Amino acid sequence: MKSAKIFVANWKMNKSYNDSVQFIRHHIDDLAQTIKQTGHKVILCPNYLAIAPIRDLLGTSGLALGAQNCSRHGFGSYTGDTAASSLAQASCTYVIIGHSERKRFYCETNIDIEHKLKEALKAELIPIICIGEAAQEHAEGRTREILEAQLASQLEIINTAPAQPTGYIIAYEPIWAIGSGVTPSAHDLSSIFHWLAEFCAGKCSIEYKLLYGGSVNPTNAASILATKHLDGLLIGSASLEFASFNSIITSKLLS
Ligand code: PGA
Repeated sequence: MKSAKIFVANWKMNKSYNDSVQFIRHHIDDLAQTIKQTGHKVILCPNYLAIAPIRDLLGTSGLALGAQNCSRHGFGSYTGDTAASSLAQASCTYVIIGHSERKRFYCETNIDIEHKLKEALKAELIPIICIGEAAQEHAEGRTREILEAQLASQLEIINTAPAQPTGYIIAYEPIWAIGSGVTPSAHDLSSIFHWLAEFCAGKCSIEYKLLYGGSVNPTNAASILATKHLDGLLIGSASLEFASFNSIITSKLLS
């Protein structure tokens, strides 16, 4: 079998509580079969409310759970927030940190993201840290500079965490590619992932995985997965239907 890849389904707020639970009720056996046949890691990030009922349906499927966000605080008087530790108690293993939609719609800053990362590590969650440049920054050829600025402090936090995590995940998601139907060229992906692998290895000795996210679909998944140093995909809209999500996970890996 070729090397195992990671597939993260980020459902965002696209599915209701009922639809989220129903999806898993209907498709958990098929997903379990796909995981068994491919050996890939599949991580589902539903809305907070759906996490616990979905956990109860997972059985021995091998499907892992992640949250889409966590509070920048520990427990306390923070109305409406959810602590990373509660997510861990609810059986999440992963948490997405710093998704560009959090920055865009909730004014999340790099300082917020750093606090969230610390909370996630304290709760022993594996962080899926999103990084990516805006269209203008891309056009100006500033992608690496932007990614480096986003990553440097986060890798420092991981390096100096009181309890070292077993690993961490970086998801490169160009903001202009999310939900747009446009993806970077194979050449750009190859050069960014080559740089990312060197940058992460040079800054931090903890095991890391590198994902790509932004307009992944069943048609482009195989060629994106062929990028050297890329360990998997973070998938938004194409993870909402079982057929397209499953078809991405079962993409024929090109060597
Ligand atoms: P998309 O979303 O696959 O719908 O572009 C990806 C993401 O935002 O994580």
